[in-house]
Amino acid sequence: MKTQLLIALLLVAALAGNLLVLQRERHLEATVAALHPTPSGFPLNRTMDSLQRSADTLWRAAKAGNWALAAYYRDQMDKTAAAIVDARLVVNGFPVSTTLQKSLRPALANLEKPLGAKDSAGFASQYQQLIASCNACHRDSGRPFIRIATPTPSADRWNQNFNPR
Ligand code: HEC
Repeated sequence: MKTQLLIALLLVAALAGNLLVLQRERHLEATVAALHPTPSGFPLNRTMDSLQRSADTLWRAAKAGNWALAAYYRDQMDKTAAAIVDARLVVNGFPVSTTLQKSLRPALANLEKPLGAKDSAGFASQYQQLIASCNACHRDSGRPFIRIATPTPSADRWNQNFNPR
């Protein structure tokens, strides 16, 4: 009888111990998740590739005087930027999403006016700000070697006709 009681007590103690460990593990997991809210698997590189392409096509469309197409690419970039913000990315301790919300998104918003007014000079100056915001973040996030540039008019890089109809 005594041994049975002892075994039962030992079992209860072992179970309680297990539960405590489990609880601790969950707590640790939650803490780690709070410190690194980056959802694994967000394709930041591909998303950046897409931003680069849109930044290029945006410039080419505006240079060609195709303001509707340029406005379309600005909107695409803003949607892409919003997706990065929603993903709440922190990469190697650098707050990518919050930085992007404060830098790239205002730069994109500032392009709306010159695009709407078909203002080439205004566009050119705001476009410089846009590219500066890309590169400022690459520099600050430890990737100073990713330097985005204003396209050169002669480089016929894309398989797309930019002329307005
Ligand atoms: C708030 C921060 C931030 C902003 C703003 C930003 N980037 Fe990035 N970008 C990053 C980070 C971080 C990486 C590296 C991602 C990695 O290595 O996982 C990156 C990588 C890239 C890459 C390399 C991806 C590849 O696979 O070739 C390109 C191209 C790029 N960005 C273009 C742009 C362009 C164009 C803009 C502006 C329109 C921009 N980025 C704005 C943070 C930013």
